[in-house]
Amino acid sequence: NELPRVTYSNTGEDFSGVHAHLDAIIPDVEARLLGKLRLAHIGGRDRGEGPSVEARSPIDRDILLGEFPIAGAALVDEAVAAARAAYPSWRRLGWQRRVAILRAGADLIDRNKWDISVACLIEVGKSRLEAVGEVEEAIDLIRHYCDEMERAGGFHEDRPGASSAERCAVELRPYGVFGVIAPFNFPVALSLGMMSAALIAGNTVLFKPSDAAGLTGRLVVEALISGGLPDGVLNLVYGRRDTGEAMVGHPGIDGFAFTGSNAVGMTIMRAAASSPAMRPVLAEMGGKNPAFITPSANLAVAASGVARSAFGLSGQKCSALSKVYVERGTTGAFLDALVEVTDKLAVGDPRRAEIFMGPVINEKSMERFTIACTEAASAGSILIGGTRLGGGQFDRGPYAAPTVVTGLPRDHRINRDELFLPFLSVLEYDHLDEALADANGSAFGLTAGIYTRDKAELDHFIDTIEAGVLYANRASGATTGAWPGFQTFCGWKGSGTSGKGGLGSWYVPQFMREQSHTLF
Ligand code: ALA
Repeated sequence: NELPRVTYSNTGEDFSGVHAHLDAIIPDVEARLLGKLRLAHIGGRDRGEGPSVEARSPIDRDILLGEFPIAGAALVDEAVAAARAAYPSWRRLGWQRRVAILRAGADLIDRNKWDISVACLIEVGKSRLEAVGEVEEAIDLIRHYCDEMERAGGFHEDRPGASSAERCAVELRPYGVFGVIAPFNFPVALSLGMMSAALIAGNTVLFKPSDAAGLTGRLVVEALISGGLPDGVLNLVYGRRDTGEAMVGHPGIDGFAFTGSNAVGMTIMRAAASSPAMRPVLAEMGGKNPAFITPSANLAVAASGVARSAFGLSGQKCSALSKVYVERGTTGAFLDALVEVTDKLAVGDPRRAEIFMGPVINEKSMERFTIACTEAASAGSILIGGTRLGGGQFDRGPYAAPTVVTGLPRDHRINRDELFLPFLSVLEYDHLDEALADANGSAFGLTAGIYTRDKAELDHFIDTIEAGVLYANRASGATTGAWPGFQTFCGWKGSGTSGKGGLGSWYVPQFMREQSHTLF
């Protein structure tokens, strides 16, 4: 506990103590946690029905993460029934008690921080500091949502009536059962963030982690339940698309919290809208996030922020930078600085301290990477990277080189689609306005960054760019690294429906509906 917190926004800090601790524990955590059958959890009982599938680490295909039973429609049905049965007493328990239980859950995640960090690192291949930072983010998110509920006094307000004979009140109340569908890339923070907010609000939950993150999913559910959640309040099933579809089509689920691609998010919204009742969908979706390098930029800071944003977690973040617009006269100097930084990024097995970037999540992602490289080489030029890495460790998993391409036409699909890969396209501009307009042509609007020392330019960027999460002059990440209590994470346009984790008291109430009371 004397070790420093990692978070995401540190660049030059000394984490030698953290690394020494990880060096000491990784083999033991691997021996204890990997290769086991991990069961679903429904109504307070572990369940193993359904065919089990083996999951392997992207770091090294010889590492068996575990075996996970895939839930069919019947098990989803049971899980929904368990969540429905647990709902009335969970709701009636009162928000103060629910907050206390979730705070106890956050404390247990904190106590298990190192196990969960190592599991997350090995399961999805993120670097040591990204993995530890993510668990810290998850703990802060849960506590932040507890604070939100407390600040709002449980979202109940007494009001005077319209006449002296009546008294009024307004209250936010839960919906019932929330389906929580989480992605692979932040299997701790995003899963716990969505689940904890739903639970604090008074809903019960059916949770499906990504099929690439079942081990981490099971560990975070165990910790949260050990904080004192009654049976049936939090239920866990594993599965792929079919399981997700069974959840989304289930009339017993009253709302959904989803993080993942735009295509899946919009499908969930359409499905939720096709039932007679209003079923809310909180969807945090993808991004095609730009940064702008202006003539007054500090280029060393810009190169660091751009590389860390584009290549951290192999570009597999909704917040990842994938397009950088550089003022034409600045391009040469900026690209020199960017290549120098990118060249030094250590790629490899992220169990090692010095590694900045691990593998991509699976062979399918690697195929998409290879196709993008071929397309970029023919429509533009590859400045650095552009290859699958091979030899030694690299033959054990899908490792890609951090890739920077230039000269692609503005409307090339690589400049429009979210790739979710360590792949950055550099575009030149003559007038900032024109670059901002091109970026605003995107279907997405999640994060955006700028490097400038010109106040008028900065103000113009903030006023004009169509994105929810803006950063200026950040060395630790041009567009990434939002932290609960500081940055709200609020996608515009095709990037999402909700803002989570920021300064306001606005996330937990999205899991609630308003009720007005007039009493004589
Ligand atoms: N908190 C993560 C980021 O902003 C998602 O990159």
